[in-house]
Amino acid sequence: MWLRLQSVCLRKLTVRPGYVSGVFDARLRRSVSHSASRAATCKALQYNKHGEPAQVIHLVDVDYGPVGAKEVLVKILAAPVNPSDVNMIQGTYAILPDLPATGGNEGVGEVSEVGCGVTSLKPGDWVIPKDAGLGTWRTAAVFSEDDVVSLPNDLPLLAAATLGVNPCTAYRMLADFEDLKPGDTVIQNAANSGVGQAVIQIAAARGISTINVIRDRPEFTQLSDRLKAIGATRVIKEEALRKPDMKELFKTCPRPKLALNGVGGKSATELLRHLQVGGSMVTYGGMAKQPVTIPVSALIFKDVKVRGFWVTQWKRNQSHDGRAFRSMIDDLCSLIKQKKLAAPACNEVHFEEYIKALNAAMQPFTSSKNVLIM
Ligand SMILES: NC(=O)c1ccc[n+]([C@@H]2O[C@H](COP(=O)([O-])OP(=O)(O)OC[C@H]3O[C@@H](n4cnc5c(N)ncnc54)[C@H](OP(=O)(O)O)[C@@H]3O)[C@@H](O)[C@H]2O)c1
Repeated sequence: MWLRLQSVCLRKLTVRPGYVSGVFDARLRRSVSHSASRAATCKALQYNKHGEPAQVIHLVDVDYGPVGAKEVLVKILAAPVNPSDVNMIQGTYAILPDLPATGGNEGVGEVSEVGCGVTSLKPGDWVIPKDAGLGTWRTAAVFSEDDVVSLPNDLPLLAAATLGVNPCTAYRMLADFEDLKPGDTVIQNAANSGVGQAVIQIAAARGISTINVIRDRPEFTQLSDRLKAIGATRVIKEEALRKPDMKELFKTCPRPKLALNGVGGKSATELLRHLQVGGSMVTYGGMAKQPVTIPVSALIFKDVKVRGFWVTQWKRNQSHDGRAFRSMIDDLCSLIKQKKLAAPACNEVHFEEYIKALNAAMQPFTSSKNVLIM
């Protein structure tokens, strides 16, 4: 049986990497890993201690492969630098990989080789990670077929590279907490963030109005115009949340059913004050690094719901059945193809100039996602 399995796998490899019964996968994996492809080297941005990213991240050569029966070799094309990547390197995030670790939780790659037991992917497919922690800041990697999910390979590169975290977070928060209908209103802070820009676009595609709160800055008008151009209904400064003008605003649209908080501190408390009776505030980020204070009156007289969301946990909860994840990715790709969802404003940075990207990603008031191009 062993000899026969090996020959089945090798024959499949020379003709078309394809179906091999799952019953035999474990044995095939061993046989193929010694025969399918040789080990090779890629470049990776690694850290072996926690600290400030520009100080602890180094570009190193890393061996990968060979490609096992249920594995794929992926050439990484582009990967963003997100706040959670920075927090992971600093050692302050909720999940931390073993060290040494490769940075990056998001990105898109092209499959360049598949193991003989791989059934769902083929060379040329684009893939993104299913979960956090895969380490996307590298030029190539061997992943398990089950660790990635495919995307159409004709999406704009930056939209694909930034799809897996922020648009998924925006999509779920708009879908899972309140029954939002066209004409309803959502209020959010950090509206110029990656998540915020995805919320604006997905909500607009569904006829939902957004009140978008950003910090004041000299180029407020340009930024406000940019957010309106992607579908923001209103853009206001944080200070405006405390002013009587808000009453005027709610003469033109209903009070929000849903508030999305990526900041915390006073900003979150002010968002909450404007919710409808019984509305929800969902906290997904804490950029101000300050706790959320809930006024007693909001709980007693408005019965607001105070919730949290973490897309990594949502994805892990789906791991037994990929249908909800697949359906969300398909919906998001369809919005991209209809030009209703675009990547956030991005700075493209060559992979080897990663220090530039890491430093830029930690600056406030930039309104731009730094994306490493491999
Ligand atoms: N829970 C989840 O599943 C989930 C998923 C994705 C992201 N997140 C979190 O969501 C947040 C945004 O992520 P992102 O990738 O969208 O971010 P991003 O594109 O890098 O944007 C950062 C945002 O944070 C704002 N900001 C930075 N420092 C601030 C401060 N001290 N006070 C108020 N606002 C501040 C920036 O506004 P300025 O332009 O004014 O600096 C900008 O709007 C992060 O905390 C991230 O970890 C959570």
